[in-house]
Amino acid sequence: MSEQSKHFKARAQELVSQMTLEEKALLLSGGSAWTTHKIDRLGIPSIFMTDGPHGLRKALGQNIAESVPATCFPTASALASSWDPELIQQVGAALARESQASDVQILLGPGINMKRSPQGGRNFEYFSEDPVLAGHMAAAYIQGVQSEGVGTSLKHFAVNNQEHERMVSSSNLDERTLREIYLPAFEIAITQAQPWSVMCAYNKVNGVYASENRLLLEDILRKEWGFEGFVVSDWGAVHDRAKGVLAGLNLEMPGSGDVNRKKIIEAVNAGQLPVSRLDEVVASLVAVVLKAVENRRTGAAFDADRHHALARQVAGESIILLKNEGNLLPLDVGGKKKIALIGAFAKEPRYQGAGSSQVNPTRISNAYDELVALLGGSERIGYASGYDTEGVTTSALIEEARHQAVSADVAIVFAGLPDSHESEGFDRASLEMPEGHNRLINAVTQVQPNTVVVLMNGSAITMPWMGRVRAILEGWLTGQAGGGAIADVLTGRVNPSAKLSETFPMRLEDTPTATEFPGLNQQAHYGEGVFIGYRYYDKKAITPLFPFGFGLSYTTFAYSDLTLGASSIKDTESLTVQLKVKNTGKVAGKEVVQLYVREDKPAVSRPEKELKAFAKVALEPGQEKTVSFTLKQRDFAYYNVALHRWTVNPGRFDILVGGSSRNLPLSKQVQVEASEVHVPTLTRDSTVKEFKNHPKGQAFYMRLAKVIMGESYGTPDTVKRTPQEERARKKAEASTLVFVHDMPVYKLIAFSEGKFSEQMLNDILSQVQ
Ligand code: BGC
Repeated sequence: MSEQSKHFKARAQELVSQMTLEEKALLLSGGSAWTTHKIDRLGIPSIFMTDGPHGLRKALGQNIAESVPATCFPTASALASSWDPELIQQVGAALARESQASDVQILLGPGINMKRSPQGGRNFEYFSEDPVLAGHMAAAYIQGVQSEGVGTSLKHFAVNNQEHERMVSSSNLDERTLREIYLPAFEIAITQAQPWSVMCAYNKVNGVYASENRLLLEDILRKEWGFEGFVVSDWGAVHDRAKGVLAGLNLEMPGSGDVNRKKIIEAVNAGQLPVSRLDEVVASLVAVVLKAVENRRTGAAFDADRHHALARQVAGESIILLKNEGNLLPLDVGGKKKIALIGAFAKEPRYQGAGSSQVNPTRISNAYDELVALLGGSERIGYASGYDTEGVTTSALIEEARHQAVSADVAIVFAGLPDSHESEGFDRASLEMPEGHNRLINAVTQVQPNTVVVLMNGSAITMPWMGRVRAILEGWLTGQAGGGAIADVLTGRVNPSAKLSETFPMRLEDTPTATEFPGLNQQAHYGEGVFIGYRYYDKKAITPLFPFGFGLSYTTFAYSDLTLGASSIKDTESLTVQLKVKNTGKVAGKEVVQLYVREDKPAVSRPEKELKAFAKVALEPGQEKTVSFTLKQRDFAYYNVALHRWTVNPGRFDILVGGSSRNLPLSKQVQVEASEVHVPTLTRDSTVKEFKNHPKGQAFYMRLAKVIMGESYGTPDTVKRTPQEERARKKAEASTLVFVHDMPVYKLIAFSEGKFSEQMLNDILSQVQ
């Protein structure tokens, strides 16, 4: 615990010691929709929390539908596609300055849940399908916000991956999947950035509400990861309040009047909730309240122009160039070429998602106006809306669009998902864009061979027109400055450098959860286990539309000279990895270098490869840089459910480096030795094979195996055979061994009709312990 945290904790404990039971219970529930209670008598003020994550949504008065104007940054899927933690940190700092200006002490974000299915309704608000990318983005965001004296609330803890029945559904998953996929992003963010608060999810995890889940809130979050802040319920996620306090849920939001307060008091009076536990839970909350108040900057203001410029820069870094046949982009804007801008999103962009994260932007830029400004007038720009707000088109709208397209040198169609297609509160029924958008693109390509598609959507979509267009930009939900950023990328003022933070599959049927998403009847079975996102497409050898980590540039990069610090390491040692990346094109650009690890012969079913490190590198034309990474035990380990911890299975690992999960030109192998040898305990249920692989058990292996071959236990083989007979015996023995190997040793008693006795088995077991 840092010195600062210790200081606030000590003061908080001192205050708690002076509180009545009623005051403690009062503090554990909100004072309003967004504030905590205050206790004037003890000088404990109230603090203000508000959404989050990509802009401030501070409600105006009691009206939660209206909020103060704030800069709307790109949403999380876009931010993560920048693969640039330093930039995300700047976004965090800007969000905090706006929070300070609105007297907000805690921003409710970032959202970090894994994109288990591209149908997840809130995917636009989450970073990635990969825990390492999501974890590092979240850590950077938290460090940025908290560097300006405002707290964050990392959400939604945990395994919150569907909107359907979100307040009651149980996410049912095995321990390894929980540890390897759904927890690590939280673990990275908490251990690296220590958010002031964590928001527990609405759902249950394996039948226990996240808000009452001691395993998550106490054992893992606080004891294992050292979380020092307070846990707040998602808004309305509290069920049994006393159970929540016991499990480690500090604050209920929003307030519930005296309903749950009374329950806490009753539980204490009935001896069901120890006062010592209540005190701990209150003190963790009060410590953060004190810290928040000390960091408050009364009268703070922010520079809306600067933040809008930052939003434009970030959006530019988040737009992905998915296709660029014949280098159609960047557009040649210097000459006399005519450009047709088609699709209502060109003038009325979809730039953010719906639900609790909806920001009231300080301004909105659109691509049409920005391109007019960059080209110095509208003479060379045509426009047709193409579809209505629901994405519905008509023959008349299509005709108008074709008319504009045919008379231009290039057509840019703006398409994607309307608001009604993705939002907090429901999951997506399909991965398709509205029919009107697809029809419009097809119609334009019939008359204009130079068609570019610019997409505005928060999560993966299908592209049935992929082969008919020459260039595609994935703009995501770009935030309020997206129009300018799109214009920057289209015209080459910004060289695209973003890469997909999630896989785009060819079709819904190819996705990891195709057989069941969302989970119905309050049960979500995570049957695909650790195989989500690229882990699934890799394992099933399914070609996605665009793979995880993919994105083009207006320049090209070459990878070379991969070197490992050692060819063999112990898992207690770290491994340095170095390589060179060079800009081999004509313009400056940035490359996202990705490092994946693959285990050669895993002890459990593991993904073909997993992302472990990445770096975004800026390179002038012809420039080459050396990139270094350091890998540690955890980068090779899997979660061992027998031991309930991360262990390395000794053996060979491939280190794979390149520019996307499906383009990894560099590879080298390293041998990793495990420092601890995990010897399983042999019991009467252990198989004959387990005896074979056990250091003490192997001495008994052949003797046990031979019992099933009709020989008495331990009898030496003295029969004389011809070489031919001996060969036949060995062959028969080998095939019998296959059958015997998976047999539990206690079965030998019955199979040998007692010749191998209970006593003999007990003797062996006593010798192998
Ligand atoms: C959402 C949270 C949000 C909270 C407060 C809930 O419905 O799930 O993400 O922070 O509301 O608006």
